[in-house]
Amino acid sequence: MAELKRAPPTSKSRGFYVRMRLLHGYGKHHQRLAQDKKSFFHRYYKWVLWLSLSFYFFCPYLLSHSPKQRLNPLHTGSAGSTHSSRALFESSLSLSNSSSTRSQEPEIDQELRGLKIYVYDLPPKYNSEWLSNERCRTHLFASEVAIHRALLTSDVRTLDPHEADFFFVPVYVSCNFSTTNGFPAIGHARSLLLSAVQLISSEQPFWNRSSGSDHVFVASHDYGACFHAMEDRAVADGVPEFLKKSIILQTFGVNYDHPCQDVEHVVIPPYIPPESLRRTLESSPANSGRRDIWVFFRGKMEVHPKNISGRFYSKAVRSVIWHKYSGDPRFYLRRHRFAGYQSEIARSVFCLCPLGWAPWSPRLAESVALGCVPVVIADGIRLPFQEAVPWPEISLAVAERDAARLGPILDRVAATNLSDIQRNLLRPEVRRALLYHDRVERGDATWHVLRALAGKLDRSRRRSRVYGQ
Ligand SMILES: *[C@@H]1O[C@H](CO)[C@@H](O)[C@H](O)[C@H]1NC(C)=O
Ligand SMILES: *[C@@H]1O[C@H](CO)[C@@H](O)[C@H](O)[C@H]1NC(C)=O
Ligand SMILES: *[C@@H]1O[C@H](CO)[C@@H](O)[C@H](O)[C@H]1NC(C)=O
Ligand SMILES: *[C@@H]1O[C@H](CO)[C@@H](O)[C@H](O)[C@H]1NC(C)=O
Ligand SMILES: *[C@@H]1O[C@H](CO)[C@@H](O)[C@H](O)[C@H]1NC(C)=O
Repeated sequence: MAELKRAPPTSKSRGFYVRMRLLHGYGKHHQRLAQDKKSFFHRYYKWVLWLSLSFYFFCPYLLSHSPKQRLNPLHTGSAGSTHSSRALFESSLSLSNSSSTRSQEPEIDQELRGLKIYVYDLPPKYNSEWLSNERCRTHLFASEVAIHRALLTSDVRTLDPHEADFFFVPVYVSCNFSTTNGFPAIGHARSLLLSAVQLISSEQPFWNRSSGSDHVFVASHDYGACFHAMEDRAVADGVPEFLKKSIILQTFGVNYDHPCQDVEHVVIPPYIPPESLRRTLESSPANSGRRDIWVFFRGKMEVHPKNISGRFYSKAVRSVIWHKYSGDPRFYLRRHRFAGYQSEIARSVFCLCPLGWAPWSPRLAESVALGCVPVVIADGIRLPFQEAVPWPEISLAVAERDAARLGPILDRVAATNLSDIQRNLLRPEVRRALLYHDRVERGDATWHVLRALAGKLDRSRRRSRVYGQ
């Protein structure tokens, strides 16, 4: 025991130490009980009777609430897959320095307020099976994979659901890539999520006791919790009834009322693979600060946007930009896909981030990571982690109706405060906040998700039990 107490406070030995102390305590308790029984039986028979009775009632409770026992139904189905998916997760590289990550881990992170999250171990059809397609964990909606992966090795993860504040439900819905256009088909998302909720609510007591209000889901697709890529359909369908009380981590965010964020939620960044950024930074001459492109945009720009049920792609903003500036040599506008576009961002001063079907765009995170000033053209957009990332200091917001005046607007910024914005953009904490890593790093995207959840601890049953007494 003495040696164990002196063991260094790594998370593993801490857990072991606590278990040992519990066992030790129980042992003493039993010895004392036996003695009590022998020598003071007639003086304390009421107490002994009371203790025996409480043991009688308490032991079945302990057995039925042992996490191992309760978890078995879920575990047996997918134990193997968890191991293989973990191996997969851990073998991939991250931008971060693993030695520095490890040295941070034993510290208790005050800002996370002792948060504890239980990660459901769902059968592979809900998550790991999708990873057979390599794109599933690298495409721009892959935050659903990245957050799950980072939670599995995180210090906030608990294996005991009884001590959890929140329950993470890992369902990957954006990896069903259409064979015709390569985009994710998420028509099955609602039914897949519903079936996951039915599974966890029938096998474990945690969903029912809170109606899911301490359960966390990721909705990384265009209209977030509405699980549809087109706004009119998304709005018509609304947030699925069974998810209305839960917490949704979603890329979609606007600063006005919208049915698709009418749910407890956190706005998160889209997924950008750290490896691709590292490759770009390593191979990019812009590392030395030379930016030879003044304004950059590559993406869909329709000359005549199609009128689809009364809606125009990007509300025609992109077409306006194309008409007005495609002939301007200072504007580097391209309408076709190019795998090496990140190197173009690294060479650019301003990177346009106009809305598409939805207001948010992966370009924002890529621009920040590669030091190009994001020019956000999406009225009412609410950007990720607004409490933590000083968006007004590191980006420009241009109203949709001003899209045709981009030239003079950017000229004025260049003449006044461009260098301030560029300097702010170089702050490492800003870039870190928008990137996911295989293991949670203080200040990275998953960490900010955890911090946001720590701000919702009033939803935790454990906390209300502890503090409500
Ligand atoms: C990782 O950290 C070590 C020392 O902490 C440093 O020497 C090394 O350059 C770092 N590597 C990277 C890729 O940042
Ligand atoms: C994938 O998407 C297609 C098209 O929406 C759908 O028919 C199919 O059921 C989905 N696959 C799964 C496994 O959900
Ligand atoms: C939770 O509630 C549902 C619907 O009322 C029920 O079918 C299910 O058995 C309940 N789960 C548990 C673990 O009691
Ligand atoms: C777009 O289509 C809708 C019907 O789908 C129509 O009512 C509307 O007038 C059209 N708008 C334009 C500018 O053509
Ligand atoms: C830069 O100037 C523009 C107006 O020209 C202003 O809207 C913006 O807030 C300024 N940004 C910073 C970081 O000073």
